[in-house]
Amino acid sequence: MKKKLFDKFAELFGSADGARFYFSPGRVNLIGEHTDYNGGHVFPCALTIGTYGAARKREDRMIHFYSMNLDSFGVVEVSLDDLTYKKAYNWANYPLGVVWAFAEKGYKLENGFDMVIWGNIPNGSGLSSSASLEVLTGVILTDLFGIDSLSMTDLAFIGQYSENNFNGCNCGIMDQFAVAMGKKDNAIFLDTNTMKYEYAPIVLEDAKIIITNSKVKHSLVDSAYNDRRQECADALAALQSELDIKALGDLTPEKFEEHKDLIKDPVQLKRAKHAVYENQRTIDAVAALREGNITKFGELMNQSHISLRDDYEVSCEEIDILVDLAWKIPGVIGSRITGGGFGGCTVSIVKNDAVDTFIDSIGRTYKEKVGHEAEFYTVDIGDGASRIDG
Ligand code: GLA
Repeated sequence: MKKKLFDKFAELFGSADGARFYFSPGRVNLIGEHTDYNGGHVFPCALTIGTYGAARKREDRMIHFYSMNLDSFGVVEVSLDDLTYKKAYNWANYPLGVVWAFAEKGYKLENGFDMVIWGNIPNGSGLSSSASLEVLTGVILTDLFGIDSLSMTDLAFIGQYSENNFNGCNCGIMDQFAVAMGKKDNAIFLDTNTMKYEYAPIVLEDAKIIITNSKVKHSLVDSAYNDRRQECADALAALQSELDIKALGDLTPEKFEEHKDLIKDPVQLKRAKHAVYENQRTIDAVAALREGNITKFGELMNQSHISLRDDYEVSCEEIDILVDLAWKIPGVIGSRITGGGFGGCTVSIVKNDAVDTFIDSIGRTYKEKVGHEAEFYTVDIGDGASRIDG
């Protein structure tokens, strides 16, 4: 991979002398969906697929971005004196947003840089290709410009800040945190209220985690996502008229049931119910995993899907087909939609001896029903973003 990127780098920028090499993973969330902007818990892990980058400081104030996945955009050139979002920059608005966010936080760059990327996270799959690129850029900037005072958690927050304020998606912290802080063979149990986190080893002796890509991405994902956030904020405001809470994640399901009549709007009520119960499911699921009770973990994944489908309404027909098919296969421990929703991927835990049947039979039936193929990936849990050549 390094050679491929460095050859391209040399072709575009004269030579690759002094260029440095980086990797930033994608992520999959095992449980705890749409809880991160509600002060709840999440349980994601970093993947071994992700975004590779080659980068080198320049003498002038220009930044050059090039993606080997989207070569039709050519080299996107931006001056450090004009850090503004432009539609024509397309994908490069993600790394550019991070440069802008660094400046906003007081880290203004004096020199520009050249950056070539290549990634193997399927686009629009809900496996966080954008967070991967944001954290990659953060790692590149701190390394190239010798900024030692920013931790990996800071880079996660800067990535989220840029996505919220430069690219217009009001996402929570889960994706950038998982990408920055991932640890091989572990998932991260993060409390987004306190930002305390613990690693939990994922040791499945007789099962695999499988991601199934529906290969659909419905439009308006970002606006529907922002709507959900707003509905939760409105539900919280209604509860706060009598309760002293800062986030929906402060409520146990029991306390929520006691006070839910404060929420008058039926849609807001459903959204809040999901946020509160999903938070509890995530806490229960991690406890079950620690006790070695993978069956219970799987049941909680299934309940998570039902809640995301019926109460949070972020699933879609294609994803429901994948999950329904998975639930019918003996040896499937749990299956649910993962990520922001409206298409993308499911995540399933499947007994080793059921993996072939899972892929064959879901693959075939999905194609018959939807008209195109799904893709399957076995999850290998990897480390967070870093420079990988020195
Ligand atoms: C997207 C967002 C995350 C999180 C998930 C849903 O991936 O970027 O912050 O809210 O959706 O759990």
